[in-house]
Amino acid sequence: MSDSDSYRIVSAEITVLVDDYSGFTRLLAEHGFSALVSILYSDGTVFRVLLDSGSSGSVLIKNASSLGVSLESVDVIALSHRHYDHSGGLSKLIATVGSKPVIAHPDVLRPCYSKSRGFTRFDVGMPPAVKRSLQRLELVLTKKPTELAPGVWFLGEVDRYYDSNYAIKNFRTTSGEAIVDELLLDDTAIAVSLGEKAIVIAGCSHSGIANIVRQAKRLTGAREIVVLGGFHLMSADSETISRVVEELVHEGIVDVYAGHCTGLRGEARLLERFGDRMTKIHSGYRLRIEQPMESQLLRGS
Ligand SMILES: [Fe+2]
Ligand SMILES: [Fe+2]
Repeated sequence: MSDSDSYRIVSAEITVLVDDYSGFTRLLAEHGFSALVSILYSDGTVFRVLLDSGSSGSVLIKNASSLGVSLESVDVIALSHRHYDHSGGLSKLIATVGSKPVIAHPDVLRPCYSKSRGFTRFDVGMPPAVKRSLQRLELVLTKKPTELAPGVWFLGEVDRYYDSNYAIKNFRTTSGEAIVDELLLDDTAIAVSLGEKAIVIAGCSHSGIANIVRQAKRLTGAREIVVLGGFHLMSADSETISRVVEELVHEGIVDVYAGHCTGLRGEARLLERFGDRMTKIHSGYRLRIEQPMESQLLRGS
């Protein structure tokens, strides 16, 4: 799609395929996240990016089937970061639907040890089977923000303007023989430009959800942001949670759709601050946003 007419995004639809919560549905839940982002352009073409694959792959495939979602039609898979609950389903997904291009940060292949699991050497990074299947795919490893299709951004390495230590403090990696702090620089997200508004779809937000939003605003030029995903507030203290929620208000968040690793206290604080504009997502949750016609015309002119 290269002509300006194709650039006009009519709508973006996000379908949560894997979340830790199944809501009041008969779908499956597991620790992890996966969402299909479908972009409809004014010429009728549709671009589909799958962000993450959940832990097992079987929950992703079963839920997609139950929802009538075709994973075969996915154009590109983007990884929000290396953690197994986002990357673990990839080998089963590829074995089921065939080869797909994958985009991720170069650090996605590094080990990551979780201190909170009781032993420092427990690798919560990408499972070995997934690393093997990546060798057979078209794999783009980049730190740079990348426009996957007109108006659809892989945010790349996120500038950490706000303190996001609360979202990385329990992780370590290796440097030679030494075990060192892990910054999870691979953590990123997807953003879709809808004129004055943009929608951000985040996996685990180890970069800090306010930093992710800030980067999305810079790339899309949007002033208002709708954000959906996991915000990694589950192990943050109350003061930090309040600080992050205020950062989101400051960055122009208008609607919040929180799930996965946001945590109960994070969700409660978001609900208190955003009221009816805060929704708890679950496996099978669907969000569709149409771009106002004026914005479409402005984009095309
Ligand atoms: Fe996660
Ligand atoms: Fe994570």
